[in-house]
Amino acid sequence: PKIALIGVPTDIGAGHRGASMGPEALRVAGIADALRARGLDVRDYGNLQGPVNPWQPPTGGYRHLPEVVEWNRLTMDAVYASLGRGELPVVLGGDHCLGIGSITAVARHCRETGKKLRILWLDAHADFNTSEVTPSGNVHGMPVACLCGLGPEALTTLGGPAPAILPEQVRQIGIRSVDLGEKRLVHQYGLDIYDMRYIDEVGMKRSIEEALEGVDADTHVHVSFDVDFLDPAIAPGVGTTVPGGPNYREAQLVMEMIADTGLLASLDIVELNPAFDEHNRTGALAVDLVESLFGKSTLMRA
Ligand code: ARG
Ligand code: MN
Ligand code: MN
Ligand code: MN
Repeated sequence: PKIALIGVPTDIGAGHRGASMGPEALRVAGIADALRARGLDVRDYGNLQGPVNPWQPPTGGYRHLPEVVEWNRLTMDAVYASLGRGELPVVLGGDHCLGIGSITAVARHCRETGKKLRILWLDAHADFNTSEVTPSGNVHGMPVACLCGLGPEALTTLGGPAPAILPEQVRQIGIRSVDLGEKRLVHQYGLDIYDMRYIDEVGMKRSIEEALEGVDADTHVHVSFDVDFLDPAIAPGVGTTVPGGPNYREAQLVMEMIADTGLLASLDIVELNPAFDEHNRTGALAVDLVESLFGKSTLMRA
């Protein structure tokens, strides 16, 4: 399929400014040419344009809710249109709140085309907070909850009646930071979480095999790649680092195993924050991993 790059230059849901520079950092790191080198037809649609970040404290448990809603409407429309054109949308974030719009669009497309959906959420965080339990009010800590129908109506019904997805469609990988109230919610909703303890014990290979169980030719695989999934030693360019993440080889294996399914149909790359990076090192690493996600390997051709 044709790859559609869709820039969503926002930090509206984050606790630090700068993820809004992520799309350009990924372009500067050569994402388009890296995908073209894979033999893929790539079109860069440029950036969506949404409200500026007013940088206000939270009200009612949310920071910038109206602006978050607007950015997610734009994202949902752009991703939905791209899927309708038969493309594979790659959302260049932007903070992770945009996963609400992106995945709502993907879920709607899957409902309409009769596809099963498997969401692989690569992240240090579960992003399952609500306005009642959030320690920050930052909506980038809430997208999975919103997608599962838990959140403000403006976000849970972006693509039709809530919920956009079911928890059983999600596998979370690399998790190592879950807030107190959030822990209760992920248990209550039955999220399938491959946290770092589990990955340490059974290994990354087995973890990804399990996360991909049940995926078949009728499955649309969506990857939501929060760059803070990676260990901060190799990926300092994010706003919310958490120690103890996957190393370079483990991250490559994750990407390669997903590529091997041949079922990747949409992707978010989020939370890259050039303001915290070292000469775009994390941007370059993200592109390197995305090459593997699209099938680059040491010994196989094409
Ligand atoms: N759990 C924290 C919060 O709710 C951090 C969330 C970080 N999320 C992210 N997408 N980086 O504020
Ligand atoms: Mn499709
Ligand atoms: Mn995260
Ligand atoms: Mn996240």
